[in-house]
Amino acid sequence: MILIIPVLYEGCSSSKKNTSNTSSLKEAYKNYFLIGTALNIAQIEEKDPRAAALVPQQFSAITPENIMKSALIHPGWDRYDFDMADKIVAYGNKYNIRVNGHTLIWHSQLPAFMRNMKDADSVKQFFTNHINTVAGRYDGKVFSWDVVNEALEEDGSLRKSVFSEKLGSDFVTEAFRLAQKAAPHTELYYNDYNIEQPKKRAGAIALIKKIQAAGIRIDGVGIQGHWRASNIPLKEIENSILEFSALGIKVMFTELDLGVLPNPWDSDAADVNLKAVYSEKMNPYAKGLPDSVQTKFTKGYEDLFKLFLKYKDKIGRITFWGVNDGQSWLNDWPIRGRTNYPLLFDREFNPKPAYYKVVALAGK
Ligand code: G3I
Repeated sequence: MILIIPVLYEGCSSSKKNTSNTSSLKEAYKNYFLIGTALNIAQIEEKDPRAAALVPQQFSAITPENIMKSALIHPGWDRYDFDMADKIVAYGNKYNIRVNGHTLIWHSQLPAFMRNMKDADSVKQFFTNHINTVAGRYDGKVFSWDVVNEALEEDGSLRKSVFSEKLGSDFVTEAFRLAQKAAPHTELYYNDYNIEQPKKRAGAIALIKKIQAAGIRIDGVGIQGHWRASNIPLKEIENSILEFSALGIKVMFTELDLGVLPNPWDSDAADVNLKAVYSEKMNPYAKGLPDSVQTKFTKGYEDLFKLFLKYKDKIGRITFWGVNDGQSWLNDWPIRGRTNYPLLFDREFNPKPAYYKVVALAGK
């Protein structure tokens, strides 16, 4: 089957179509940093023809949105399900796209047998077996791992979780120690949201320094980047790029999306456990995005990518959390069933004005 994507021309209007001007995010940024996206199951299996054509054309890195999380890849104490993870590795090989493994140790999306586990020895056994088996299997097959995800509270202290409570405050360092051994050919990252904010950033820096002081390898830090288009913390992002890179590690923006909907708590915390009740007032753009909001959204991406380009020597990858607006987790979080517009491609996989702005900036 031949797929034609007629939309990826500078300008978007048919009068401006120019086949010599086909644009691509990964091409535009190839001398600067990787441009990634998160893939769901249908996309990994190439069941969605429009995504199947778009992803290899636009992106140089992929992260599985869910299928490498422990609940899915390690569903029973002695049982692993590598089917989908093997498929994303094959996808990466087929299109020469780097795969970032997401994620080895996270307090959320844990297998059922791990929930409410009381016995510290059993938690330790799970932790060790999980990292050894999963990181070991994909060593050199994935480019990198988010070894530990979201271990910090907003004030920079260690999050209360089954891992911190049963394994103690060294569990992050221990996770990297095990991952280093199991995956010597794979880059190892710490990943979290809001770590651009001063207190949480200080906590992340302390964690990273602790890993380094133990003589253990950490190659990078992932700032997730779930921000609101109207409220991007540019100054703190800049400070974070400088402070994290001063530790001698790569800085990445790993789950970028710019929400345009109201947040019930006026917050940027991407805690998946936060939930609020639906109301029409909280879903103002169900029938389409007003031009004024689209313009602010585009400006948000422009400001961000100007900053990313300023620090291109310190940044390893920018990954968007999803391929198009219709597939974004932000349609269902923190309120189910809303219509959000956080990415560069719309629900029909058409590039939005922000897409053209981001591509154009790379050429300047
Ligand atoms: O697979 C089941 C399906 O069988 C079931 O019918 C359906 C009913 O709700 O649920 C499906 O699972 C959902 C899963 O996504 C796959 O679509 C879960 O309910 C849903 O909770 C899960 O949400 C994911 C969320 O992590 C869960 O923790 C989002 O897709 C994913 O985008 C999000 O990603 C996280 C990053 O990993 C870490 N940083 C924050 C980011 C956003 O929350």
